[in-house]
Amino acid sequence: MKAIIGGTGVDTLPGLQSEKTMVATQYGDVELFVGTGKDASLVFLPRHGSEHSVPPHLINYRANIKALVSLGVDEAIGIYAVGSITDLLKPEQIGTISDFIDVTGGGRQHTFFTGGSEQVRHVSMDRVFDPALTEALLQEDPSLVRGGIYCCTNGPRLETPAEIRSYRILGADYVGMTCATEASLAVEAGLRFAALAYSINWAAGVEGSEVAFIGDAMIKQLRSKMTRLCTQVLTRR
Ligand code: HPA
Repeated sequence: MKAIIGGTGVDTLPGLQSEKTMVATQYGDVELFVGTGKDASLVFLPRHGSEHSVPPHLINYRANIKALVSLGVDEAIGIYAVGSITDLLKPEQIGTISDFIDVTGGGRQHTFFTGGSEQVRHVSMDRVFDPALTEALLQEDPSLVRGGIYCCTNGPRLETPAEIRSYRILGADYVGMTCATEASLAVEAGLRFAALAYSINWAAGVEGSEVAFIGDAMIKQLRSKMTRLCTQVLTRR
């Protein structure tokens, strides 16, 4: 099985033939959409819930990833809305993510390896994003921006201009609130994982003084493009 994990702007997957399903895990219950018919090899997981009711710092990331594993998922693509810090990925553009910086501060349940019966393991993050799966996305859509460094904040508040300036100095191209936690748990769980970033605004202080978001119509267009792309790449593998 293959999974698409969506978030802001991608809380539903129109066009996916699926059944809403509740999966129980040791970390809690997860509601997701299991594909049927032509989409029987796909699962769609809206990370904030299908009503977008869970903020980034309260998402049950461990339950989400464990639910996918229990359905037999071995490969997944996460889709992340971001704010642009550098010109690499501008608002309205889509790209693959090549690495991340985690500034969430450690308050999240961000690992499966909590000691005792859950073991102590230090998983390599050399290759968080699976090179072959990432390359397949880039081959399928040459208009994608290749690579980019994602800075993951705790949220749900947006950043100050000074924070964004500091993340730029650290090497970040864009900022969001979910990818580092989700991707590292996916790697801990042994999934092959790739990620798409799509920019919906310039980050605080980058262009002018107000953070302005792209419109809903554009977000819908980007959602269609990304879900088509992910579906094509995952169902062919
Ligand atoms: N900051 C953090 N997360 C985001 C942003 C932002 O500017 N835009 C979309 N997700």
